[in-house]
Amino acid sequence: MHAFFPGAAQPKAELYRDLVLAARALVADEPDAVANMANVAAIVWQFVDRLNWAGFYRVVDGGLVLGPFQGKAACIRIPFGQGVCGTSAASAATLLVPDVHAFPGHIACDAESRSELVVPVIRRGEVIAVIDLDSPEAGRFDAEDAAGIEALAREIADAI
Ligand code: SME
Repeated sequence: MHAFFPGAAQPKAELYRDLVLAARALVADEPDAVANMANVAAIVWQFVDRLNWAGFYRVVDGGLVLGPFQGKAACIRIPFGQGVCGTSAASAATLLVPDVHAFPGHIACDAESRSELVVPVIRRGEVIAVIDLDSPEAGRFDAEDAAGIEALAREIADAI
């Protein structure tokens, strides 16, 4: 199996470049969407520090349903337009929330979460899932994290 060694204190641009390359290697030639989401959630968890949750919500019948993830058990279904994930999915836009307590309608799956980054996965113009990262630190995510996870979403869109 692939072994990945994210460098400690690596510049973010490099870290996300390596994460995208690792994702490319993991999903190459594998058609099973669940397996690919599971491995991608695992490497996000491995590469990106200070997280308490990382994983997928998939678009199913017009709402979001929990997908493969790392972290504590989470809310299973999120309607479009609700919470950070449902708002990102409904607007097809990345949401960077420095303080989840200040986001109206934030859905608290884990009371430890303080900041959140949600990136839509878009395939042929349609949102098919979101990638959700939660941190116990306020203001954990910045524009470089958002750009890195957006690059990851583009890389795996055809594999999930
Ligand atoms: N906080 C999210 C819900 C998902 S959990 O964080 C895993 C939201 O508001 O959509």
